[in-house]
Amino acid sequence: MNDKTVEMKGVSKNYISGSDRLHVLKDVDLSLYAGESVAVVGASGCGKSTLLNLLGGLDRADSGSITACGYPVSSLEERDLTAYRSLGVGFVFQFHYLLKDFTAAENVMLPMVMSGRSRRESLEAAMAALESVNTSDRADHYPSQLSGGERQRVALARAVINDPPLVLADEPTGNLDEDHKEMVARLLFSLTTQAGKTLLLVTHAPDLASRADRTMRLSEGRLVQV
Ligand SMILES: Nc1ncnc2c1ncn2[C@@H]1O[C@H](COP(=O)(O)OP(=O)(O)OP(=O)(O)O)[C@@H](O)[C@H]1O
Ligand SMILES: [Mg+2]
Repeated sequence: MNDKTVEMKGVSKNYISGSDRLHVLKDVDLSLYAGESVAVVGASGCGKSTLLNLLGGLDRADSGSITACGYPVSSLEERDLTAYRSLGVGFVFQFHYLLKDFTAAENVMLPMVMSGRSRRESLEAAMAALESVNTSDRADHYPSQLSGGERQRVALARAVINDPPLVLADEPTGNLDEDHKEMVARLLFSLTTQAGKTLLLVTHAPDLASRADRTMRLSEGRLVQV
């Protein structure tokens, strides 16, 4: 059996708005292993992005524990969470979140510069990452000058620039045409089959989910194997 990259145990998350208390995640357990891809499916609003945000260290669970890539994510101080977010995990968001005042190359190199590597080394790695997603000819374009598919590919390059063991992808092909969907899907799955990473993928697309090694369904706050 491959190494365990992720262990979530008894994770719960509530949102409180006004007098309402929304139990989005109820006692969720999840184990993920190196080299595997897992799809998470479920109705809109069921908590898929919430689950990814907790695992990515972008939000805190109310209870339970999360360990990922050797980091005790659920109990880390903010400073150590920053290190985890930069080195342990790569995030491809539901909406791309490229920084609008930075070029494609600068967006991709940013996580590497932030983790203390030189500008020159980071730029070289960024160009190689853009090359791998067929977007190096757009390196000097700003996000507003990129198509939706190009933005998503740049976001993917940025997510993996620091070579994280865990990649979280939230509807990565949601807004793309068929050709770009296929390219992004291939790139994502090659991260597990060729680079031995762990991929957790949220998607509404049955054909994309079916390409993952396993599928989990989130329903009424609980995660079950499909
Ligand atoms: N910051 C917040 N405050 C209050 N409620 C929130 C907050 N973020 C999300 N929610 C609610 O929590 C639920 C889960 O949201 P989440 O974004 O995780 O759903 P999702 O499964 O990703 O949906 P989609 O498929 O539409 O992206 C939704 O009902 C949403 O309205
Ligand atoms: Mg979502």
